[in-house]
Parts: sequence; structure tokens; C-alpha cells
Amino acid sequence: MLTVHTLADWRAQLAAAPAAPIFVPTMGNLHDGHLALIRRARELSGDSGAPVVASIFVNRLQFGPNEDFDTYPRTLQRDQELLASAGCDILFAPSEAELYPQPQTYKVVPPTELADILEGAFRPGFFTGVCTVVHKLFNIIQPQAAVFGKKDYQQLMVIRNMVQQMALPIAIHGGETLRADDGLALSSRNGYLSADERAEAVQLQAALRRVREQVLAARQAGVATVEALHGFEQGATQALDARGWRTDYVLVRRQRDLLVPDAAELNAAEPLVILAASKLGRTRLIDNLEV
Ligand code: PAF
Repeated sequence: MLTVHTLADWRAQLAAAPAAPIFVPTMGNLHDGHLALIRRARELSGDSGAPVVASIFVNRLQFGPNEDFDTYPRTLQRDQELLASAGCDILFAPSEAELYPQPQTYKVVPPTELADILEGAFRPGFFTGVCTVVHKLFNIIQPQAAVFGKKDYQQLMVIRNMVQQMALPIAIHGGETLRADDGLALSSRNGYLSADERAEAVQLQAALRRVREQVLAARQAGVATVEALHGFEQGATQALDARGWRTDYVLVRRQRDLLVPDAAELNAAEPLVILAASKLGRTRLIDNLEV
């Protein structure tokens, strides 16, 4: 696997590539979940000759002032080995000066109804930071397709929406969330957990599963209402907080636009997703479960 650090070196690679790349953007500190995205990209490439390209860039624009930008683990050498083992052809790993040679004052601002709810309500400006860097990376890499994990469910939806509205010729693929044996979704931030917190962390997914059972039972009985949903959401929040978590949200939403389902949709087959974010000690974990 080749690693390039500059736009000029990347553009030379792009000019020589037999087909437009399949792209997996990351912030590094990789785990098996990322590697599954690389393998998905490899499958999408098939025997077309399209190179599988990953990027590693810790994007300052998407971190809030009290978030972990400075301490976010930078593990380039290990990441390179992992990417190579998963079938990545080229890694684009620019420095901050290379990607943002001037302050990035042109930004891609996603619509408030999609980007200021859920994660966006607790991380102001997060999706503007994500869209700005992803749009810029798309302009640089010029991929035909890109793969994003479903663990960051809202991010995947925002990116799909951006690509559609901006008419970018890029197919967006969602990769399934990889989980540890006990059900904890793999995440770069799991490394921040102490041993006790790691054992407790599985409760987030357990809470989502309980909400899913409640929704399915209410749906089957034809008695699902928006009020009942609020009850399930609050019950899950209180159960986590009683164990010492500090929950930002547990919410049941429509898969298609992340808005609140109405009663008719709840009792029909409207695809739903339960999304949660909660803090355990100093670590904020997110997860989701489709219904
Ligand atoms: O999901 C991530 O790791 C980041 O948000 C992304 C898409 C690489 C943009 O910085």
C-alpha cells in the first residue's frame, strides 16, 4: 500500500489510476469496523481496477472547543499496517497545513432540520465540519463511490443528502456496524474506557434492544403512539442514568429522514431507527439499532 501526504502526490496517482477510486474517509485510530469498510470498498472495486483509497485526517472543524481534538489518538504506522492487511491500495494522509493551507472559511452547511437534531443538537457545528471536510475530500479524491459506517447513522444520512443536493456523482454505501462479542459497537473512542467502564458500556446497546422490543410489541398490538414512544425513550434514558450514565438522548426516529414517526407510521411497517448518545465517565458513546 502506498501512502501519499500531499495533494500533488495524490493527483499524480489519480491521473494514473485505471478507474475512479472507491473511497473510505477516516480519522485514523482504526479498528475492525473501519477495516470492514475497506473490505466492502474492495468488493465494490471487484476486478474493475478502481483503487481502494482511504484517508486519515483528524478534522479540527468537526470538534467542539471542549472535545478531544488534541488528545484524539494519532496512530499512523499501526493504521497503515491495518489498512494494507484489509486490501487498501492508497492511503491519503495529509497534514493540516496541506488540507487547510488557509483557514477554511468556505463551509458546507447542512440543513438545520437534519443537522441540528440528535448529534447536532449536542455538538453544534459538528455536521458543518463533517460536510466541509468530506466535500473537500470528495473534490480531491474524486471517487466514484464512498463507504461510511452505519454506526454514525446521522452522518451517513447527512452525507447522502449532501451528495444528492450537490449532484455529486458519487455512490454512497452504508457499512454495517461491527460489534464486540458482548454487543458494544466498535469505536475509536472505546479505547478511552477504563476496564469497569468497558464492562458497563454494553448497557447502551442493551437499552436500545429493550426499546426495540417495546416498539415491536406496541406495533404488533396496534397500540403504538407517539406518547408511548416518549415513554420508552424516557424509560431507557432513566435506566441508563440510574446506572451512572449521563444520557444525551435515546430517540426513535424514521430511518428515511430521522424525523418523529406519526401514529399511522408507527403501527404500519415504517422503517424506524433508535439512536442513542450517552456519556460513561469522560467518554461519550453513540449507537443505534434499526427496527
Ligand atoms: O466518521 C469519521 O471518521 C469522520 O466524521 C469523517 C467522515 C472521516 C470526516 O472527518
